[in-house]
Amino acid sequence: MHPILDPGPTILAEAGEVVAYPPDRPLDEESIRQAAEGCVAIVSQLMDPIGETVLSTAGLKIVSNVAVGFDNIDLAAATKHKVMVTNTPGVLDDATADFAFTLIMAAARRIVEADSFTRQGKFRGWAIDMMLGADVHGATLGLIGVGRIGRGVAHRAKGFNMRVLYYDPQPLPPDAERDLNASRVEISRLLTESDFVSVHVPLTQQTHHLLSTPQFAQMKKTAILINTSRGPVIDEAALVEALQTKKIAGAGLDVYEREPAVHPGLIPMPNVVLAPHIASATVRTRSEMSAMAARNVATAVRGGRPPNLLNPEVKR
Ligand code: DGY
Repeated sequence: MHPILDPGPTILAEAGEVVAYPPDRPLDEESIRQAAEGCVAIVSQLMDPIGETVLSTAGLKIVSNVAVGFDNIDLAAATKHKVMVTNTPGVLDDATADFAFTLIMAAARRIVEADSFTRQGKFRGWAIDMMLGADVHGATLGLIGVGRIGRGVAHRAKGFNMRVLYYDPQPLPPDAERDLNASRVEISRLLTESDFVSVHVPLTQQTHHLLSTPQFAQMKKTAILINTSRGPVIDEAALVEALQTKKIAGAGLDVYEREPAVHPGLIPMPNVVLAPHIASATVRTRSEMSAMAARNVATAVRGGRPPNLLNPEVKR
């Protein structure tokens, strides 16, 4: 569909004829369905809504998402229509964990604000109280979700001598907890005790608005919230309200509830660092994601079982 990075196009071209999605066409289900007519595979990206309408396209065998998250795809409908769905797990873990840490550092040390202050010629001399921020070293980091990316963030936190609290239905093995200085706690304790809360869960019905007004009320007034997962895990209007009323101190956001729209309340806030969903955006990571998605397609169109199959019941 949309352009992907090398070597993805070469792998796809060896597997069959590739049809580009017209760049000026909207990304709604009906337009995607029309574009997919006659295709056996769709290389989708996270802004493509892939539901029943698209998945019922005759002859469609696979939807290969160039992302680890696949909340844009109705997996149950795909399984019903015997369409394989694949994603790109693993290859983006480190880049995303790096970026979550980037947001922690940027928000804590006010780096965006400081940069703009300096560029505007406002730095007229050192001052003892200028741009005071929060310590990252030695602070408590609360991780909501410790899958591969959450663990990667915990691993980075070790270098900053942080205490890690985590909330996850699945406990880490005891040796990993020891190694990461991490303790599994209830979400309310995590929210009450953490200086930084970083979200690393997939978007599901259970995680939609996992953080809203009651959760913000439990957080420290000095706490900073980081989100590199999916926007709708956080109730964005409630977050704006929590920031405006100083229930929490700041945020670092890479994802938004109604992407690409950003809640207008966030725009003027100097204590919020905003990024355009780029946590995995390094040259190497995005190339590896492209290659992986293309290999999933190539395997499927040649009659094989793609390595990153999310609905194995479709292909036994
Ligand atoms: C994903 O893979 O789900 C990210 O959001 C984009 O890399």
